[in-house]
Amino acid sequence: MNSLPKDDPPSETQLLAETAERCLYPNYARPGVVLVRGEGAKLWDQNGKRYIDFYAGVAVSALGHGHPELVKAIQDQAAKLIHTSNYYHNEPNVLLAEDLTRRTGFSRAFFCNSGTEANEAMLKLARRHFFERGESERVEIIAFENAFHGRTLGSLAATGTAKYRQGFGPLGPVSHVPYGDLSAVEARLSSRTAGIIVEPVLGEAGAIEAPPGFLRSLRELATRAGALLLVDEIQTGVGRTGTFLAIEAEDARPDALTLAKGLGGGVPIGALLTGEHLAASLPKGSHGSTFGGNPLASAAALAVLRTLDKESLLVRVQTLGARLADRLDTLRSRSPLITRRTGRGLLQAIELVPEQSASALLGQLRDRGLLVTLAGSNALRFTPPLTISDEEFEEGLTLLEETLMS
Ligand SMILES: Cc1ncc(COP(=O)(O)O)c(C=O)c1O
Repeated sequence: MNSLPKDDPPSETQLLAETAERCLYPNYARPGVVLVRGEGAKLWDQNGKRYIDFYAGVAVSALGHGHPELVKAIQDQAAKLIHTSNYYHNEPNVLLAEDLTRRTGFSRAFFCNSGTEANEAMLKLARRHFFERGESERVEIIAFENAFHGRTLGSLAATGTAKYRQGFGPLGPVSHVPYGDLSAVEARLSSRTAGIIVEPVLGEAGAIEAPPGFLRSLRELATRAGALLLVDEIQTGVGRTGTFLAIEAEDARPDALTLAKGLGGGVPIGALLTGEHLAASLPKGSHGSTFGGNPLASAAALAVLRTLDKESLLVRVQTLGARLADRLDTLRSRSPLITRRTGRGLLQAIELVPEQSASALLGQLRDRGLLVTLAGSNALRFTPPLTISDEEFEEGLTLLEETLMS
């Protein structure tokens, strides 16, 4: 008697995907890939497939995967002390505050655990600053269309993309004006404006750079109106655009600035940096975080900053950024699918014609072994680790070129 053919048993990945489907909150759309290991700018999935990492966990893994300095700093600190709360000082956190203030010229640092929390702190700081000065009518924020500032209610109010805001109102009070439009900003500024919040390069909107002089002009407008200039460098900061802060490309000094993403190299940490004139704006007890700036996250961030210096990564990002721009420009001249290239350093994107779905192309690239992210309405964004090697970089570019030209 013939035995019936047996179905193959489900793979580990299928079993995990089924459990995810059943147990995880279904707010993300994820493909059936389980990443299990990384080294440099390479990642492996559960089936042993290898990928070149051109996304770094959305511009987070600045040192790539398994960087020995970062791994050692985390291991050593984990063995010593992971968490204390902010009831007491901890050494890595104080050293981190000292390093960041020295490096950026700001004088104070507050730590939290994510980008949205850092922006939330910055928006609260703006309101409380004017409250402390007896100007409590100054509560309004000016932000930009298509900007992304995070998902908590305050940061979401500043986020200028309808799809993220839908169903979460009322949000505000925030006025959104077109990015780069100084007269629109001027028209909205009033004695009720607490601050202008701006990304030096719109990250999620597709690596769109501010027009030259824009940040400097915003500084002037904010000062003239008695409002604060608040800069969100959560995606652009920590070297991603080739300078430690993207604002260094222009002589524009904001009142406060936020960092997250790359700062901990993958360990969650966010930071709000302020000038000394804002040091009394959030008085003791007015804001805080249980986990913020804990020893483990602070030790990781210190290792990232140390490695940035030791491996001259800012210069490396400038070199790789120029190479990336060059290759993408060449590709654009050859492929009718690309309408434009945007961004700088290791934060760049290609916008595609409407007939070519960026999401379908992202899937093809993944199948071939290259991981990238979507941005804007129909663009692919490239944010590889700052430590990516020449070989990894070349392999990724070749995969991209082959896929687009096939
Ligand atoms: C510019 C900018 N601000 C804020 C955020 C929010 O950061 P997080 O996801 O860590 O809350 C992001 C995340 O993409 C961002 O790119």
